[in-house]
Amino acid sequence: MNPRGGFNTKLGFILAAAGSAVGLGNIWKFPIEVSEGGGAAFLLMYLFFCFILCFPVIVSEIAIGRKSNRNAIGSFQKLGFKKWSFIGKMGVLTGILILSFYSVVAGWVLGYVFEMIRGNFQIYESFYEYTNNVKYIMLYSFLFMFVTAFIVSKGIADGIEKASKILMPSLIFLMIILIIYALTLPNSLDGIKFYLIPDFSQINLNVAGSALGQAFFSLSLGMGMLITYGSYIDKDNNIVKSAALITLADVGIAFLAGLVIFPFIFSKGLAVEGGPGLIFTTLPQIFESLGETTGVLVGSTFFILLTFAALTSTVSLLEVPVSYVVDEYKISRKLSVWIIAFFIFILGIPSLLSHGEFLFFKNFITYLGSTKPVDFMSFIIHVSNDTLLPLGGFLITIFAAYIWKKENLLEEISIGNNNFKNSFVAKYISFSISFICPLILGSLFLITFLEKFFGISFI
Ligand code: PFF
Repeated sequence: MNPRGGFNTKLGFILAAAGSAVGLGNIWKFPIEVSEGGGAAFLLMYLFFCFILCFPVIVSEIAIGRKSNRNAIGSFQKLGFKKWSFIGKMGVLTGILILSFYSVVAGWVLGYVFEMIRGNFQIYESFYEYTNNVKYIMLYSFLFMFVTAFIVSKGIADGIEKASKILMPSLIFLMIILIIYALTLPNSLDGIKFYLIPDFSQINLNVAGSALGQAFFSLSLGMGMLITYGSYIDKDNNIVKSAALITLADVGIAFLAGLVIFPFIFSKGLAVEGGPGLIFTTLPQIFESLGETTGVLVGSTFFILLTFAALTSTVSLLEVPVSYVVDEYKISRKLSVWIIAFFIFILGIPSLLSHGEFLFFKNFITYLGSTKPVDFMSFIIHVSNDTLLPLGGFLITIFAAYIWKKENLLEEISIGNNNFKNSFVAKYISFSISFICPLILGSLFLITFLEKFFGISFI
């Protein structure tokens, strides 16, 4: 048994990594992007990005982790490239930033579970006051962080793996119940048509860019999360197969979320709203219209599902810095977890205060080339999701292909996968990781960075 601990089963690893991938991003962002980006046409493009472009990155991250048996920073050192551990440092920072705002939104979701159970559907009228009720949402965000930290403190097999084995099947079960219910509502087919009818004219470079960004965030790539989880798996694990299952689970659940959301919206003839409005204001109106008992049941089921999705993601986000501190500073897991979780909770407070009376955080920064100030939470999202993740992904591909070298990468992938070396997949990964991935991820990083922060538009 490895003293660092590890996943007990292959399925446990897949569920934990899929749990990381399936999160708030899948359930509220993905369906809207599909509907706005040309329905099935967008879906095809998204599938293409996940399987053609992101897949080699997933495989590389897992391989780096398994080979080095270390955290996101130590792995570069362990492979003999100490200088390149800055990629891991950037990844750990990105994970901390993402968790700081993600746990705030997850706190809103958790609060909604209790509002739905109480039958307080009218909360949709006061969502913005809700996010401004600092004591209340701070309590929920704290609670969420507490549960996340508790799971991570138990370690990989007894904490993360066990929790994923309960949460992921429950999530799928709840999702299926909601889909069946949603499809019985009037006009549900119109919702599905709106969601899926292909319209290729909607696709342009802008849509493609956001699809790629979404795919990357959704698969939890570019910050060493999969290096970290990959460091806890055995040599007999077939990396290609695991990566394929993780991707399928992520895309599949995002797709299914649309089959719940659009029939709901169309059954009441409401407008399709993007952003937090969809989940926090549109859906509660629909739950209210279902009548007291059904509304409470369906509404709380939906938000419990969302809580589970968010929890398996926050757990993975916290494990990235924890694994680093435990490996490198030999501090006990329990102590590291509680200190880091508390620190990230504090770091999240400005995000928590971003939406209301605290004008300093609401109008936190105005980028060059813009006159509109951006709130603190959005600023963190722009830095971490939109900038650091594609940059991290770009650097990881450069590292895998040219520094560690693709022969070593392919060698590691072939362990546990006998026929790999001469396969088409091997040739594809080798080509893509050397040329396609760095080119596209590097461009995505440059384009979004210049556009977001300097208002320089290329498209
Ligand atoms: N993939 C998660 C989502 O779609 O909500 C977010 C996420 C989790 C990103 C973990 C990065 C990460 F390491």
